[in-house]
Amino acid sequence: MAKAPVNVTVTGAAGQIGYALLFRIASGQLLGADTPVKLRLLEIPQAVKAAEGTAMELDDCAFPLLAGIDIFDDARQAFDGVNVALLVGARPRTKGMERGDLLEANGGIFGPQGEAINAGAADDVRVLVVGNPANTNALIAQAHAPDVPAERFTAMTRLDHNRALSQLAGKLGVTVNDIKKLTIWGNHSATQYPDIFHAEVDGRNAAEAVNDEAWLRDTFIPTVAKRGAAIIEARGASSAASAANAAIDHVHDWVNGTPEGDWTSVALPSDGSYGVPEGLISSFPAVSRNGSWEIVQGLEINEFSRERIDASVRELEEERDAVRKLGLIK
Ligand code: NAD
Ligand code: LMR
Repeated sequence: MAKAPVNVTVTGAAGQIGYALLFRIASGQLLGADTPVKLRLLEIPQAVKAAEGTAMELDDCAFPLLAGIDIFDDARQAFDGVNVALLVGARPRTKGMERGDLLEANGGIFGPQGEAINAGAADDVRVLVVGNPANTNALIAQAHAPDVPAERFTAMTRLDHNRALSQLAGKLGVTVNDIKKLTIWGNHSATQYPDIFHAEVDGRNAAEAVNDEAWLRDTFIPTVAKRGAAIIEARGASSAASAANAAIDHVHDWVNGTPEGDWTSVALPSDGSYGVPEGLISSFPAVSRNGSWEIVQGLEINEFSRERIDASVRELEEERDAVRKLGLIK
């Protein structure tokens, strides 16, 4: 019997990530080649026309798995019955804007979207926040959805994970397929910590294979952590296709499971593991089993890693405290 369509809501659908993402979802790359999808696009009123243009193009692809497209400028309608919510649209930082202003502006988006998810989402809803500051936007949305299990709210560090894989593969002259068990810890920001101490390259410890702490400290970590800024500098716009690709990877693995013998990186509500305060949405090594993320336990954290994880977690605590002060979360 044919599967029922899955409702996928994408916010910021007319933006550049939206344009790179929607066609891949509709082609079956998000959920699998046997799963039809219904797209529910959310935009601000001024961008609805552009979203309609994208919807025309989606129609013109005649994707066999695309069971319908609806466009909304109202979050309650867009999230009604949603199974997979991709929260991409966010308020970008503009000239003269302080960090507090940015958090407040995004609180005005992610609070109501959390409420709308709480009001209308399907029981199995899974939420991925891509819009920056992604971890704290996810925290705000989650705080406004008390009836949805907290662990259904995640933020994206898969792009950082993929960037780290690629940089490490380049250094060691191997392919990304040869590398397993790499981890991004903390915030999706320049304080994130890409950790290779538990990573394996062809079965060998990656840090030992690199054997170059200066490269790790002065090249690898800053290259991965500042890659987003480097792309903005080079392209004049932030990463779009690679961000969409990472969103596809994240949801695909969440729904279908991560491969045996490997893990990935996901920002999800901390259960206190690795000393990360409970409730903070921080990136961890994670596997997906039976449709749920599980934090990989029992890794030994050396001093080099500890101080970097702590620094990124501190930044997340500061963001949480700032949005609390603004009354955006309790
Ligand atoms: P963009 O400006 O091209 O598109 C954003 C879209 O969101 C716009 O069409 C805008 O109209 C829409 N939007 C704004 N407010 C909205 C709301 N309340 N409801 C629905 N839609 C709304 O930006 P983009 O390049 O697509 O990037 C989107 C976000 O993703 C940015 O915050 C960016 O910083 C972030 N990003 C995150 C990662 C990551 O790894 N987590 C990577 C790249 C980009
Ligand atoms: C990225 O990592 O590419 C983005 O988060 C950068 C940005 O600020 O949009």
